Amino acid sequence: EKGGYDYFMLKEIAEQPRAVADTLLGRIGSDGRLHLDEMRITDQQLREIDKIIIIACGTSYHAGLIAKYAIEHWAGLPCEVEVASEFRYRDPILTRSTLVIAISQSGESMDTLMAVRHAREQKARVLCICNVNGSTMPRECDGVLYTHAGPEVGVAATKTFLTQLVAVYLIALYIAQVRGTKWGDEVFAMVQLLATMPEKVEKVLETMEPVRELARSLAGERSVLFLGRHVGFPVALEGALKLKELAYMHAEGFAAGELKHGPIALIEEGLPVIVVVPPRAREVLHDKIVSNIQEIRARGARTIVIAEEGDDTVVPYSDTLIEVPAVPTLLQPLVATVPLQVFSCELATAKGHDVDQPRNLAKSVTVE
Ligand code: F6R
Repeated sequence: EKGGYDYFMLKEIAEQPRAVADTLLGRIGSDGRLHLDEMRITDQQLREIDKIIIIACGTSYHAGLIAKYAIEHWAGLPCEVEVASEFRYRDPILTRSTLVIAISQSGESMDTLMAVRHAREQKARVLCICNVNGSTMPRECDGVLYTHAGPEVGVAATKTFLTQLVAVYLIALYIAQVRGTKWGDEVFAMVQLLATMPEKVEKVLETMEPVRELARSLAGERSVLFLGRHVGFPVALEGALKLKELAYMHAEGFAAGELKHGPIALIEEGLPVIVVVPPRAREVLHDKIVSNIQEIRARGARTIVIAEEGDDTVVPYSDTLIEVPAVPTLLQPLVATVPLQVFSCELATAKGHDVDQPRNLAKSVTVE
């Protein structure tokens, strides 16, 4: 049932183009407009929202962090993101015009479920993004948008993460379509581009051999750092989480702009640092991160750079360059995350670990 792969995780990484395509399927009309009526939230209700709060755990939380950028930009609504286990222990300000979005692959994470219940008690409208039909969360929420990743057996979230990203892009663009924002043309163009993402992810998968080689060469390292900016920051966090859970290795993700506020002190000779570089079109961010790469390299870091194809500016400072297809910044996590999944999977396997069943972890965490 692993379809010829040694691990479910490998199979699930390979299935990502299809998972992304299936999650888009039927949701983009022939006129290029989005259809998400299945969400059970009316257009009128969407027009009344004045704030969005996203709650989730682990990898799903990283999808939530990326959602914030998409929602603020396209939908033009304030958006907060919080780990579910912290949510109800604060005094979150929720009203009838707050839309809470719970993101959960399994639909069973107790931390997220308790946060959902708390939000509903406060009269907020609660939508969930979920991969498992008939699980608890979709039953307890006002609405649901299913990801169609298919069953994920490997404990580490891979294809479900990419499909969660697709779901949050769809929601952000749909809210923009319903409410009408200044980005009307861009929204239309983005929907068209989303439809091309399965090919782009496929293209990344075809070029992963050097990443696997790199991973094997780093199996003896003690620590790996990940840097990113904008949506590349949550991608860095996700890369670090994957490495922790699969390779049992110290890994940390940072916002590249924070380097000089502390983490740069960690840089020492030979330390592998993976940097997610925003597209060149985001000139200001791009140039800042290129300076960060120069700074850490001057201090001895081994720089592993993920950048869009044809970005020559990073070549002189990259010990290893991993190229991904050129896509708009907000969509870049769909292509930039894949090499990080492949990297941690291969590194963990090289260390002899079972990537489908990492120690101490469960696929669905049903206790708080
Ligand atoms: C990481 C991973 C976990 C889950 C987290 C939330 O690879 O799988 O961090 O993302 O436990 O699970 P769901 O999405 O089922 O609520």
